[in-house]
Amino acid sequence: MAHQIKVCMGSSCFARGNAKNLQLIQSFLEQKGIEADVELCGLRCCNRCAAGPNITIDDTEYHHVDSGTMLDILEKTFR
Ligand code: FES
Repeated sequence: MAHQIKVCMGSSCFARGNAKNLQLIQSFLEQKGIEADVELCGLRCCNRCAAGPNITIDDTEYHHVDSGTMLDILEKTFR
């Protein structure tokens, strides 16, 4: 696997943006045809809800990730 994306699926992150972010990630990977190169997994709440929605790509943590930020992060990581 070239990259790993971890999406917090705890109720706070999920309700505040990660439900949408997950869809964005899936369609982005599909559009780019790179699903096989990226491991996508969900995480339980890691008690950092106040900083959420939380996403980790490889070893980098991203916080307060809204849809616009999510797309920027994906473009930057997978360009
Ligand atoms: S729900 Fe994501 S850190 Fe708590």
